[in-house]
Amino acid sequence: MSTLADRYADEFPVKENLVYFNHAAVAPIPRRTAQAAQEVLARQLAHGGAEYEVWEKGVRRARQSLADLLHTGTDEIAFAKNTTHGLIIAAESIPWREGDNVVTCAIEFPANVYPWLALERRGVETRFVGARQGRVTLDDIAAAMDRRTRAVTLSWVQFTSGFRVDLGKLSALCRERDAFLVVDAIQGLGALELDLSRYAVDFLCADGHKWLLAPEGCGVLYVRRQILDDLVPANVGWLSVQRPDDYLNYDLTLVPRARRFEEGTRNMVGIHALGASVSLLLEAGPREIERAVLGLTDYLVEGLLRLGMEVTSPRGEGECSGIVTFRAPGLSADELAAGLNAAGVACASRAGNVRFSPHFYNDQADADRALETLRTFIRP
Ligand SMILES: Cc1ncc(COP(=O)(O)O)c(C=O)c1O
Repeated sequence: MSTLADRYADEFPVKENLVYFNHAAVAPIPRRTAQAAQEVLARQLAHGGAEYEVWEKGVRRARQSLADLLHTGTDEIAFAKNTTHGLIIAAESIPWREGDNVVTCAIEFPANVYPWLALERRGVETRFVGARQGRVTLDDIAAAMDRRTRAVTLSWVQFTSGFRVDLGKLSALCRERDAFLVVDAIQGLGALELDLSRYAVDFLCADGHKWLLAPEGCGVLYVRRQILDDLVPANVGWLSVQRPDDYLNYDLTLVPRARRFEEGTRNMVGIHALGASVSLLLEAGPREIERAVLGLTDYLVEGLLRLGMEVTSPRGEGECSGIVTFRAPGLSADELAAGLNAAGVACASRAGNVRFSPHFYNDQADADRALETLRTFIRP
């Protein structure tokens, strides 16, 4: 029986050039995604905007694919410029009262920090919970919350350690304390299965350029249907309203869907490309993808330990992801990552660790090559 990696090898010409273990930074795109983007451009080249209806069909397809990936309704899906854009929309739209606070953790990627710190002008405090060996514990989050906690914002998967928080339990905590839950999903979505029909996340966002295998600058923002009316949208534009085509009838009735946050003209090429990437993920199967990614990271961890590396990613049941971080005794992570990259193993250095982040189309042969290359850098 062929593996997922075998089945999709032709979609990823990057495999001919590199062992690509850097999906947690910027991912390669599959062939069909490049084709989808080229098709939009070719249409515009030949016909200008005369085929707008065809473009629109692609937008509808992409929105449906994202809804399928997340197990949500299409009315809960908006396209966003990037993860930060989604986080800013969440931060600015929550109905704050002066003296409220938001709880996050002290190792978040800055995309999920500055939009909240910027709320200081509105009298909102940002509380940081410390991490414990790369983990963020629910007990620590709960202890930082009080009756003025209006929101909790966290990465699904931490970019420096690969720790995956239990979204079901986090969601239950937020419901119990009546706080909005905002999730930066960029380090998980596309690699790990996610079913938002199982628990209440209020906002979730991710750009396309990592595990979703899409180009930079076009992503998804999910907003839970039930909270739309509680929000105070901060980015209202001409596409936010119920009847955007009734140009001169200025009627500020917001469309009762998450796409009210799309403001104005969308990134048409980016949306078509993102849609194509998500269609590939759906076709391969999110569950099968997760299994392949975790299987390969297990294989890598075994190999790293055999080489005497210190694996720093939490690897317990339910807490691991596509990110594996490690240290080589006596070697700096920056130098080691630079050496690996120069030798054709694309990876990153983050917070004193080397970070490997393989996707489902990578296979054990890629892992063996990476480990073999790594071995050449280790001092006896
Ligand atoms: C956890 C996390 N959030 C957000 C981003 C990037 O945000 P944006 O898509 O706004 O550039 C990264 C990129 O490294 C990240 O690791």
